[in-house]
Amino acid sequence: MPMDDPFRLPNFIDLDLGTRIGGGQYYNVYEFPDLPGVLVKTVRADLADENGFHRKANPIRRRRLLGIYGAMARELNEFLIQLRRRRGLLGKLPFARPYGFVQTREGLGLVVEKIADRTGRIAPTLRDLCRSGRFEPFHLTALNTLLDRCKREHVVLGDVNGQNIVFTDGRDGEPEFVVIDGLGEKAAIPIHSVSRYFNGRRVERLRQRMLADIQKWSRQALGHSLAAAATITPTRRVEKPETVKRG
Ligand SMILES: Nc1ncnc2c1ncn2[C@@H]1O[C@H](COP(=O)(O)OP(=O)(O)O)[C@@H](O)[C@H]1O
Ligand SMILES: [Mg+2]
Repeated sequence: MPMDDPFRLPNFIDLDLGTRIGGGQYYNVYEFPDLPGVLVKTVRADLADENGFHRKANPIRRRRLLGIYGAMARELNEFLIQLRRRRGLLGKLPFARPYGFVQTREGLGLVVEKIADRTGRIAPTLRDLCRSGRFEPFHLTALNTLLDRCKREHVVLGDVNGQNIVFTDGRDGEPEFVVIDGLGEKAAIPIHSVSRYFNGRRVERLRQRMLADIQKWSRQALGHSLAAAATITPTRRVEKPETVKRG
């Protein structure tokens, strides 16, 4: 099976040859030693019925023809819209670039650019950085740069949150946040892709939400480290249940 470069993808990939590096909400995400530049994303099998439709969704969503591949289609759509605007030039995109598809035992696998640090390690999400107490002012600058760029370049961020953007300096040496999931229009009437103004408003709402999340997650990290420093284990941590949303 020739798996030594991302442009010679085999038809079928044996997931046992790789390592699952993330996912859980919607996707399983795999890394393969022989495909160093990319990751393979499959949709969680338990989300689909035997025809590939959403198992638990409401009746309307359940009958959408794209079924469980709807999220992939949204991302690909946004990628193509961006490429059309950029006259087909790939350049430096603010999101992980899709490469194509492979077949797996979990159904179709979307092959995407792996966002890694300079040593090839998977880049941390915004939430990882905050929760481990590593979030610093220059990260905030990078986050604002990403969001400003998405506004300026009219990139639609349907489902983007702190778990769907990762921080790296491994793309071209520049520190940056990159969108790895949740790209594309979610609204039934595509106001964000049609209107730069409404897209800008959405980006601002996401910015406010992420700033609040950064505070919340950083406080949690501080709480953990203070407790560790004082070797006090809180007897009972009362946490608000996280809202169940597509991550
Ligand atoms: N292109 C990518 N580059 C680096 N890491 C990624 C990439 N895609 C996914 N990941 C990692 O896998 C995790 C889950 O991926 P994601 O696409 O958000 O799936 P889900 O929303 O189902 O959890 C991410 O939080 C991130 O850590
Ligand atoms: Mg996600």
